[in-house]
Amino acid sequence: MNYHLVPMDRSHLEQVAALERACFPDPWSEKLLEQELYNYMSSLVVAQGEDGTVLGYGAVQAVLDEGCLNRIAVFSQYRRQGVAQAILEAFLRFGRAHLAFLTLEVRRSNAPAIALYEKLGFVRVGVRPGYYRTPEGKEDAVLLTAEFTHEA
Ligand SMILES: CC(C)(COP(=O)(O)OP(=O)(O)OC[C@H]1O[C@@H](n2cnc3c(N)ncnc32)[C@H](O)[C@@H]1OP(=O)(O)O)[C@@H](O)C(=O)NCCC(=O)NCCS
Repeated sequence: MNYHLVPMDRSHLEQVAALERACFPDPWSEKLLEQELYNYMSSLVVAQGEDGTVLGYGAVQAVLDEGCLNRIAVFSQYRRQGVAQAILEAFLRFGRAHLAFLTLEVRRSNAPAIALYEKLGFVRVGVRPGYYRTPEGKEDAVLLTAEFTHEA
């Protein structure tokens, strides 16, 4: 499906909340997402089809020049078509212009996400042992970072 990247707004809330529920064990609610829209430190981007369908979305939070990728998700039927890569590349362009680095944490077992991040130049910088609770016990978080060099 053809899509373009747009800033998330209230019209996307219902679809993005459904995407959250489909993708994450700790989904962000519609209410929390709405709060994020009004959080001046957060930047939320949606990949939107021509008919308004949400294919995927991402959320970055920036504190001064430090960025954190909090969310990236694509509905399963639209995966492996470059949607997440396009969203992440938009955040990386923003990062190169405005940030010192963009960091994130991901479950050690989440091979698709780790492959995506490493493809786009994120580097493993650490592990938080047992960071996530799972039905089977605990799972490590892998920390990845993209650093941006700026001319002095
Ligand atoms: C991770 C996720 C966002 C990837 O979305 P996507 O739109 O399918 O990813 P893209 O098509 O842009 O893939 C870009 C690259 O990422 C890597 N990649 C993505 N999915 C992959 C998979 N299932 N297996 C291996 N590599 C994968 C590949 O390098 C791919 O490039 P290629 O297609 O040229 O090989 C998606 O699988 C998802 O929503 N997962 C559930 C939510 C989630 O886990 N989010 C991350 C939490 S930290």
